[in-house]
Amino acid sequence: MADIEVNINGASRTIKGVAEDMPLLWAIRDILMLNGTKFGCGKALCGACTVHMDGRAIRSCITPVGSVEGKKITTIEGLSENGDHPLQKAWMEVNVPQCGYCQSGQIMNAAAFLNDNPNPSDEEITKAMAGNICRCGTYTRIKEAIQMAAEKGGMG
Ligand code: FES
Ligand code: FES
Repeated sequence: MADIEVNINGASRTIKGVAEDMPLLWAIRDILMLNGTKFGCGKALCGACTVHMDGRAIRSCITPVGSVEGKKITTIEGLSENGDHPLQKAWMEVNVPQCGYCQSGQIMNAAAFLNDNPNPSDEEITKAMAGNICRCGTYTRIKEAIQMAAEKGGMG
């Protein structure tokens, strides 16, 4: 058991008395009580649990909490101050979600992608988002929202 120091959404937090191999997702949801990040498969297959570690998209269900010591973790709750990240605005304009379950993972994956590639082609968007599964099939609207956010800019 260990105490893990981590920066979550800009604030330093200590996750006390946890097994270092416990998934980060458990710490995010059950200890830090940030429930926007979802559990889907637990095996890195769906993307529902996507958060950022030092700006990179990672799958928190397979990331041991011990490996994020000293890192900056951003969850959907910390992506923007008021839900006004360009992707979040585009998501609302396009009305992307259906049930919503996969959507925080979709947005977090798209945000890291657009930070690296602010002007992506259609093919690049499709490739970058291919690992994020949506059981409701909102893929067309997801792509439209990413294109809209990229066109409007203001990322990063
Ligand atoms: S819950 Fe992590 S990838 Fe599915
Ligand atoms: S909106 Fe339902 S799983 Fe994606």
